[in-house]
Amino acid sequence: MAVFQRKFSAAVLACLLLCGCTTPERAAQLAAKSETEKKTEYQQAVQAQPARSQALETFLAAAEQLEAMGITGQEERLLLTKLGERELSQLAAGQIPEHLDLLALPHAWPERMERYLALLAKYPDLSLQEVVTWVNTGLDTPFYTDEELVEEPENLRVLANKYHALPEDYVPQLVDMDDRYTAAKGAQLQPMANLAFMRMADAAARDGIRLFNVSAYRSYAIQEIIYNNYVAASGQAYADTYSARPGHSEHQTGLALDVNTASELDGFENTKTYAWLQEHCADYGFILRYPQGKTSITGYAFEPWHYRYLGVEEAKACQASGLTYDQYVASQPVKGPYAPPAVYVGSRAPKELSDAALAVDGVSYVPASLLAQAMDWSWAQGSGMELVISGQDIRIQLLSDSLLLVNGIPAVLDQPVFLLDGEIMVPVEAMAKVIGMECSQAANGTLYLSGQVSAFPVTLGL
Ligand code: DAL
Ligand code: ZN
Repeated sequence: MAVFQRKFSAAVLACLLLCGCTTPERAAQLAAKSETEKKTEYQQAVQAQPARSQALETFLAAAEQLEAMGITGQEERLLLTKLGERELSQLAAGQIPEHLDLLALPHAWPERMERYLALLAKYPDLSLQEVVTWVNTGLDTPFYTDEELVEEPENLRVLANKYHALPEDYVPQLVDMDDRYTAAKGAQLQPMANLAFMRMADAAARDGIRLFNVSAYRSYAIQEIIYNNYVAASGQAYADTYSARPGHSEHQTGLALDVNTASELDGFENTKTYAWLQEHCADYGFILRYPQGKTSITGYAFEPWHYRYLGVEEAKACQASGLTYDQYVASQPVKGPYAPPAVYVGSRAPKELSDAALAVDGVSYVPASLLAQAMDWSWAQGSGMELVISGQDIRIQLLSDSLLLVNGIPAVLDQPVFLLDGEIMVPVEAMAKVIGMECSQAANGTLYLSGQVSAFPVTLGL
């Protein structure tokens, strides 16, 4: 793609020399410079523009190829975080890297490729989508054989199942349940789950339905006793179909509870209470965790009474997906090893900004529009590379892929911007430098942009 560069018209030059008088100081600064000085300054900036690196050229050619194949938007961005130098070069040369169709699925993990291929070889009738979800769930290995220790058990999205174990000593933050909402004395839940259950039970009561807890938080030690008792009574294989091994019970998260019963003899699934829960539980942030007919996925028989608090948004999304929570988690988009670190603007790290970030040859890029939004600045992108970003007494206008006018003063970015799928991507550190923001990098790679934006920018390359 040709860069539009080095042929700025007299009009642009005139604009450069005339605009940007945002403050009296600026006006004085400009007035102090002769016309010749200003022209020289501008021409020097034009000369100082960095050439595109070979790595960026290859990256863009590969991206163009993906777009031609119909892989665009978030799918394209995620895939680009999974492709290494070799695959990018192949794509740039018009070749399709091996297994690109699998890798292009947003929830495909590059490091699980062998497992996907093995499962596909075993079950060729499965769709690629299913293969990836199955393996991500862990279902290509038997229950309790390939366990991972949960790293953030306090995370509301925590997944505890036969592949994910909670630390033995993990005890969540808990509150006592109000006696009016529990038949089990001394029952406890995490505060949010407790509140949500009370709200749900109150709403049910208004519809003439009574909801109450029979079993909520269970510690690792309690679960161990319960499970061992079941094993002693009915053998391990049978016990495993209805009781979790210690460390694997969702009850240890403090986010799950059994409503009204915990016995299949009660036929709870045939009650209007159950029907009410099906219709309303997600409105209060709960999901049915072990649905009917999903034993091969959850590892448990149908438990119409077991509900898990997830928060309203996630509960609704999970319910709408029709997947068990195990598979819902396994279906989430994943970034690959070439994703850049998170970007903080002030104390915020907007998810959209990080989701859209890309790394090219070790340089972090974000969409100009999202960066501007994160700084509460306004932005306007015209066709192609026309871009104006403004806020806090500063107006940035892009003249080429690395030449900017910052309040009328030419500045050169250390790395050029580029267009991806119609969106201008800007190099984070270089951009921060030009607008006078501080950019620091933590040991884990996270980029922090901070500081008062200076109205008069550092002009680079001049
Ligand atoms: N009954 C559920 C599966 C548990 O033991 O956590
Ligand atoms: Zn339960």
